[in-house]
Amino acid sequence: MPTPPLASGPDGPGALRPLLDTVLDALDAGGRARGGPLPAGGPQAVTARMRHALGDALPDEGDPDALRTLVHALAEGAADPADPLCAGHLHGPPLALAAAADLAATVLNPSLDSWDQAPAASALETLVTRALAEAAGAADCLVTTGGTESNHLALLLAREAHGAGVRLITAAGAHHSLTRAAWLLGLPEPVTVPAPAGTLDPATLRTALGDLPGPLLVAATAGTTDAGLIDPLPEIAALCRAHGARLHIDAAYGGGLLFSARHRHRLTGLDAADTVTLDLHKLGWQPVAAGLLTVRDAHDLAALHQRADYLNADDDTEAGLPDLLGRSLHTTRRPDILKIAVTLRSLGRSGLGALVDQVCERADELARLIAAHPGFDLYDRPTISTVLFRPAGATDDTVAAVRRALLRDGRAVLGRARLGGRLWLKTTLLTPHTRPDDLATLLKLVEGHTPR
Ligand SMILES: Cc1ncc(COP(=O)(O)O)c(C=O)c1O
Repeated sequence: MPTPPLASGPDGPGALRPLLDTVLDALDAGGRARGGPLPAGGPQAVTARMRHALGDALPDEGDPDALRTLVHALAEGAADPADPLCAGHLHGPPLALAAAADLAATVLNPSLDSWDQAPAASALETLVTRALAEAAGAADCLVTTGGTESNHLALLLAREAHGAGVRLITAAGAHHSLTRAAWLLGLPEPVTVPAPAGTLDPATLRTALGDLPGPLLVAATAGTTDAGLIDPLPEIAALCRAHGARLHIDAAYGGGLLFSARHRHRLTGLDAADTVTLDLHKLGWQPVAAGLLTVRDAHDLAALHQRADYLNADDDTEAGLPDLLGRSLHTTRRPDILKIAVTLRSLGRSGLGALVDQVCERADELARLIAAHPGFDLYDRPTISTVLFRPAGATDDTVAAVRRALLRDGRAVLGRARLGGRLWLKTTLLTPHTRPDDLATLLKLVEGHTPR
């Protein structure tokens, strides 16, 4: 077998072009073979098809058709977030131009742990993160692999600023990665305050802040995972200020509202937080990964400083080579900033804002359809783009079974959320191409899968 071509270098683009044709053809054929938002037949059928497509995972002799076969199999067995009926999670469809930019990042393979591996990519990251920090009212911004890592970093920075005794206070609906980060970092047992309405209640928080010894870290949420609810950020910020508590806001979902002139006001108070989690692979139409963490005081980042002679020797830094190692907990790191930069520049605030407005509008329409339908109960009008509902009179077991039946038949991906003591079907609309017809189809499908 001849030595396989490389993706970069003078021959890279020429070698890639026919391979990209193969990939695009296989994506097309695989998607057609699936014919819906996810493969029919459930885990057993999907595993059997994938086992057949893969064959021997490490054969003695290679298979020249492996690219086509495996991309086809992956596409055939995918849950496609671009399908309007794939609406179960904060699992968004990437923009074509962001995916194309990501290809360039993969080909060039810059690694953001030292300038000599990523000269232009590191400059781009500095410029774009500065702009993103400014948009969020912060001083600086780090790129992460997603909301989980951003929350983890936020707690780490809080620990370094206030000591290992800092105690986390969250509401019951906050993301599990926050309490998990407290555990990972060896912080005191977090206090989870009840949130019957789904958001952090200022009166409950005031009591907790008054009762607990400091130092304290409050983690509020702008866009809860289950219902897309936004905590009352200005009131929470004022309470934190009054009690000397540090404030982190997990805006992994809601952060995308910053792009929308219509919805930005819902994030009033965001700039009061010491740290904010943003995540453009949720409401930002980026391929995974596209996490961000903004910080209000850039000095906080000094805690991440690290010296490794092969990457940021003192004399190199003194001679003017940028020191990148303290911009992340990772060493080798992908230039995820490229697809983000291309998206921001190509669409601008107004283009991204229009996408945000569109999914929020669709969610409103879906809620109106549900409210007008005698066969369904609506949890509430959506705050962002999440709509919770359930077949009227159904038990929780029926609700769970309806979701699984839709998955098994490959007809729709709906999530599940337990709120107010009941189980709800969760629809997280992130596909801006969703049409009113799709919403009607979704409700018909749920109706058709609900036992009478
Ligand atoms: C509010 C919130 N924070 C954090 C996360 C974790 O983000 P990721 O899955 O990108 O790590 C999620 C995931 O859905 C989330 O909804």
